[in-house]
Amino acid sequence: MPGQSAITLYQDDGMSSLLCFEGVSKHYPHQAPILLPDWQLAHEAHCLVLGPSGCGKSTLLALAGGLLTPDSGTVTLDGRIISGLAEGRRDQLRARLVGLVFQTLHLVSALNVGNNLALAQYTAGQSVDRKRIHGLLAAVGMASMINRMPETLSQGQAQRVAIARALVTRPKLILADEPTAALDDASAEQTAALLLDQARACGASLVVASHDRRLREAFPTVLELGLETA
Ligand SMILES: Nc1ncnc2c1ncn2[C@@H]1O[C@H](COP(=O)(O)OP(=O)(O)OP(=O)(O)O)[C@@H](O)[C@H]1O
Ligand SMILES: [Mg+2]
Repeated sequence: MPGQSAITLYQDDGMSSLLCFEGVSKHYPHQAPILLPDWQLAHEAHCLVLGPSGCGKSTLLALAGGLLTPDSGTVTLDGRIISGLAEGRRDQLRARLVGLVFQTLHLVSALNVGNNLALAQYTAGQSVDRKRIHGLLAAVGMASMINRMPETLSQGQAQRVAIARALVTRPKLILADEPTAALDDASAEQTAALLLDQARACGASLVVASHDRRLREAFPTVLELGLETA
């Protein structure tokens, strides 16, 4: 890609990466195409995607999780070219391999905390594992709130539930979009640490997209996007 170098975020031989972007671009109407750098993420690697508003961070996460497909190039997830699959197959693969934490958390308001996690397991084609649900809620400090309805939680509590929900299906990849945007310094640090700790505990890779430079120190690798990508 002109003007951009390939970024490799791991030290492997290139065959065992969990996620790989090659020559990826996304064209939205009425604006210059977003050209993303070539990059790879190893199994169990953790990466922060940094860059200013509008540079393409959420687009990158959506492409990584197969929510969007690129207009050119390939996105490979766990050995499959996810960008070439039909929507239904991408949905299946995402349910099985990917845990998503969005800024708007999308907890299901009609279900209590425990059942929000159970629904994620069911949707991924797994049997509901109450022990794992309880264990993960305990790990994020929310076990005592397993029967609470989402609307009764604070933003920080709801975010912990969303993190537990992203992990409950044992995904290989966790994608988190701006998880610290609305938080003060201490909470932002805690949330980043929680995501990293839980990803490590579950053996998952983690990609966090943010414009929050406070997170830089917490991540071993950083992929910087600039507005020239958009
Ligand atoms: N559905 C869409 N239709 C048209 N343009 C879009 C769409 N989604 C994103 N864009 C545009 O693509 C560019 C990148 O958007 P994206 O949301 O990926 O950026 P971002 O880095 O996540 O920004 P922010 O930090 O504000 O969340 C922006 O210029 C945005 O306006
Ligand atoms: Mg965004």
